[in-house]
Amino acid sequence: MEKLMIAGGRPLIGTVQISGAKNSAVALVPAAILAESEVVLDNLPEINDVATYADIMTELGGYVERDGSTMRIDPSRMISLPMHNGLVKKLRASYYLMGALLGRFGEATIGMPGGCSFEPRPIDQHIKGFEALGATVTNDHGSVHISAKELRGAKIYLDVASVGATINIMLAASRAKGLTIIENAAKEPEIIDVATLLNAMGAKIKGAGTESIRIEGVDSLHGCRHSIIPDRIQAGTYMIAAAATRGNLLIDNVIPKHMEAVTAKLLEMGVEVQELDESIRVIGKPEYTQADVKALIYPGFATDLQSPMASLLTQVNGVSMLTDYVYSNRFKYVPELVRMGAKIRVEGRSALIEGSKLNAAKVSASDLRAGAALVIAGLTVEDGVTEITGVEYIDRGYDHLVPNLLQLGAEVWRQAE
Ligand code: EPU
Repeated sequence: MEKLMIAGGRPLIGTVQISGAKNSAVALVPAAILAESEVVLDNLPEINDVATYADIMTELGGYVERDGSTMRIDPSRMISLPMHNGLVKKLRASYYLMGALLGRFGEATIGMPGGCSFEPRPIDQHIKGFEALGATVTNDHGSVHISAKELRGAKIYLDVASVGATINIMLAASRAKGLTIIENAAKEPEIIDVATLLNAMGAKIKGAGTESIRIEGVDSLHGCRHSIIPDRIQAGTYMIAAAATRGNLLIDNVIPKHMEAVTAKLLEMGVEVQELDESIRVIGKPEYTQADVKALIYPGFATDLQSPMASLLTQVNGVSMLTDYVYSNRFKYVPELVRMGAKIRVEGRSALIEGSKLNAAKVSASDLRAGAALVIAGLTVEDGVTEITGVEYIDRGYDHLVPNLLQLGAEVWRQAE
């Protein structure tokens, strides 16, 4: 195991390239199962979750070839093997195997997904969707078994606009007989990305990105080539890091429209943000004003940027309030920030954050975005070296983190624990 060491106090200056979106990639790779010929994915992030998914595809009998950010997946010889443990436990998004295998083979047996467990994350809406499509779902010793002789289109109203459930239902419904309508669908850009891939494979999906998605099932899907959208959470993390370190960063390969909630909040606090065609420049200022931030479903401020934002809010004047309306208790990182001198009090779904100088400490990342928050906090510390353990979580979602930060002038390195 390695830990991440940060000697902070230097502004991040320069240009950073944003890679493809993790939360798209972990849906697009399993979506390839539905095709009957080769799918080529470009602009994939080089992160552990994608590598794990490539291994899962191979275990299921697929042929996978990886060359940097491109992956070729030939799913023609795949089979629906039960996957109770092992690789599926390594990532939360293994739930997409359910929709993809069900759509292609009419059957899937998948161990309950693992991954970042900052709070209990139910999959009842995924199950409700599969059942509405005519599948029988049983739970057997911690694995979900789903089977259907024939999937039939249905109208499905989601109780919560879940990203995972919306994508999983799209995957299965692409191969159902007739029309499926998902109401109260999630509207995240990653949903549109998955629909774009499926349509390029021959699916008939309309309305992705709105709360009502219509999927006309087709008999078969074929291979295609698709380039993944930029990672809006990675981009947002660098935007926040630029502001927190009072740096000057050009964040390249982004879709500025996806960043609007972050951009608006940073501007409100007094950060300079310039939107360009496919990039955003963030210029830090010596002083920021307090802000109230509400993490909501898209197009609101992303819950995945809630913890990085907490680190920035420790660097502003006054008391800020950060509320997460997506997850009720995504605050496991708070005691670690407090260890670094942050003044934060959690009350229910909210964290009250009073601006204060942070100090170096030994801290531990409990999940991916908690890790991002600690990295940003460490970058602001002027004296001493911050030591972050749990780097394996950070590696699940941020590729080339250390080389990127080094190139931007940070003093950061990995060291054996
Ligand atoms: N929910 C239910 N029942 C369900 C599904 C979700 O009650 O069947 C609830 C969840 O407990 C949560 C809310 O609905 O309160 C939203 O969950 P959602 O299903 O949208 O989340 P997800 O699909 O499991 C994805 C991202 C997360 C991100 C959320 C919210 C992937 C692989 N993961 O999770 O990303 O936080 O959407 O935007 O796409 C991350 O990248 O660090 C991460 C955790």
